[in-house]
Amino acid sequence: MKLPQQAGPIGVFDSGYGGLTILGSLRKHLPQYDYLYLGDNARAPYGTRSFDVVYRYTRQAVTTLFQQGCHLVIVACNTASAKALRTIQQTDLPKLDPKRRVLGVIRPTAEVVGNITHSRHVGILATTGTVMSHSYDMEIKKLFPDITVNSQDCPMWVPLVENFEFDSEGADYFVRLRINQILEKDPKIDTLVLACTHYPLLIKKIKKYTPDNITIVSQGEYVARSLETYLSNHPEIERNITRNSTLRCLTTENTDKFDATAIRFLQQDIHSENIAMS
Ligand code: DGL
Repeated sequence: MKLPQQAGPIGVFDSGYGGLTILGSLRKHLPQYDYLYLGDNARAPYGTRSFDVVYRYTRQAVTTLFQQGCHLVIVACNTASAKALRTIQQTDLPKLDPKRRVLGVIRPTAEVVGNITHSRHVGILATTGTVMSHSYDMEIKKLFPDITVNSQDCPMWVPLVENFEFDSEGADYFVRLRINQILEKDPKIDTLVLACTHYPLLIKKIKKYTPDNITIVSQGEYVARSLETYLSNHPEIERNITRNSTLRCLTTENTDKFDATAIRFLQQDIHSENIAMS
């Protein structure tokens, strides 16, 4: 496959709108760069899909972003990071272009929890796919063997966000249910990680049902800081990123719907373009 060689934007990929929470933090911390966002809204949610399907979709998304000129892609989706990232890095990247990079959101998040928890009991709230992959347990245990990790999947939370129901009574019911479940599993938890990029949109409800002594960790800022460090350590990658502070958005769904939603995440007008992936 022939890929464009000239410098390009940072690619940011998510199954839908959730990755816009990461994109917002990236643009805040690293505003100088150009960004190209890709939301696979037509096929979201990924959280309940099998390993093979999430891998295939994520590989298509990464390839699409490479074809659009990105040399660096952030998989801003925990489910895709959990199920597809390693295989893409190890198997696909060497064939596609060994000089390009694909990074995820799990490692940068796992790295910070050790400095946040005092009780050494951490709770992970995520999609079923991320929980089943045990990626957070493994990453956190590797870095901080003394931390006890418990996870809770929250299957209705992504559909609530994708359907603008984050302020509804339905959201109250499902958020309270899952927070109570994880705290019943481990009452010593003092740190709850929102390990799905959609969940910051439910933050009002999450705060409402989480005891005050518990720290809620949103990923955006940590992913942005980690990328900043990565780019200063990898000038050969940084050189291939253009710097005009622009943003382009691609969606596999209806662009009007995407634009109407994206404004709620990014607080700016978006004029997305439709793209087909295969
Ligand atoms: N936003 C994705 C994540 O961080 C999941 C949403 C989905 O289920 O597609 O896991």
